[in-house]
Amino acid sequence: MDRPEIILAPGPTPIPPEVLLAQGSPLVYHRGPGFGKLMRDVTTRLKELYRTDRAEILLMTSSGTGGLESAIQNVLSPGDEVLVPLAGFFSDRWRALAESHGLVVRTVEYEWGRKVVPSEVAAALQEHPDVKAVLLTQSETSTGVIQPVRELARVAREAGALVVCDVVSSLGAVPFAFDEWDVDVAVGGSQKALSASPGIAFVAVSERAWTAHGTATMPRYYFDWSIYRRYAALPDPENPWTPAISVMQGLHAALELYFQDGVDAAYPRHRTLSRAVKEGAQALGLDLFGEGLEDNWTVTAIRAPEGIDANAITDRIRSDFGCVLAPGQGPLKGKVFRIGHFGYFSELDIIRGLSALEMTLERLGYPVKRGAAVAAAEGVFQEVQETS
Ligand SMILES: Cc1ncc(COP(=O)(O)O)c(C=O)c1O
Repeated sequence: MDRPEIILAPGPTPIPPEVLLAQGSPLVYHRGPGFGKLMRDVTTRLKELYRTDRAEILLMTSSGTGGLESAIQNVLSPGDEVLVPLAGFFSDRWRALAESHGLVVRTVEYEWGRKVVPSEVAAALQEHPDVKAVLLTQSETSTGVIQPVRELARVAREAGALVVCDVVSSLGAVPFAFDEWDVDVAVGGSQKALSASPGIAFVAVSERAWTAHGTATMPRYYFDWSIYRRYAALPDPENPWTPAISVMQGLHAALELYFQDGVDAAYPRHRTLSRAVKEGAQALGLDLFGEGLEDNWTVTAIRAPEGIDANAITDRIRSDFGCVLAPGQGPLKGKVFRIGHFGYFSELDIIRGLSALEMTLERLGYPVKRGAAVAAAEGVFQEVQETS
């Protein structure tokens, strides 16, 4: 019998029924009061999530990468210098995006899985005083590492560079504070911690970034922020182009649901689920990957046991149990698999994922003590319950 796949990946995350219903409802025409209200509500909620009073939020029909591309196109000019601390697949996407737009890319390179060191970024900025923008990735989804954006933003600001941050897999998942951390551009996506469908990118833009936009000559059209700003300022806010209306209806419902409890519930939930996955994997004798594990609440990268290809694990758990884990990317392909634990996940979602993992490993010949991962996760949930 066909059943929906069980998604335990770091995005798209499982979509709540309320969101599916909202996006399956009749379309709200995109020019007029109905869509205007959707945009106003979504923007207000996102400002709360970004922790900003000052930024403008632009909503674009695109996956997260389009929002990142828009940042490059709107605050920079061909030939400008940027600095990218490289520590995984998504920071490398910044590099590729910047290079493809004719920017001069300076890098500070780290082995995948490492945390970027702010003092080393500061030193690189001293060495390259013409850097206009530092391109950061808060949650490096390929390794699970949460990068120290607050400190990195500080060193970038001290060097007079714009702070442009990918928060695609971290906004709403872990703490972020646009105003307090003095960030200039932060790009999020609908399909991650908010558990809406993919298709909408949101971009928070500071006053400083708007000033840079005023003189930036990078070619742009679809993603031109000035056009988005003009349409967003209409009495009934609009998108310039025909937007992904259904996704917007779903995102509206997803934010309403998220804010029923708010970040005060979401962050500790992600922390608890993360701990349960990590302690569950360790109870099976598996090694975890990446620095700063206690802060890495979005996704856990787990090393495949000696002699087993990590892709065999993700393939088998999917074919046998319909459970989708994420494979390793880049140099981690075949070496790690990743379990996402942000967004619309409950304790029992994690338990059933760990149970499927135990059975999968056993089928692949790994010596599993049945129930060990599940018991460890239950232990975490009970401990958190007793201490809260
Ligand atoms: C940190 C990060 N940045 C960017 C992206 C790319 O987003 P999209 O696939 O929505 O373009 C992802 C997607 O996984 C991500 O995790």
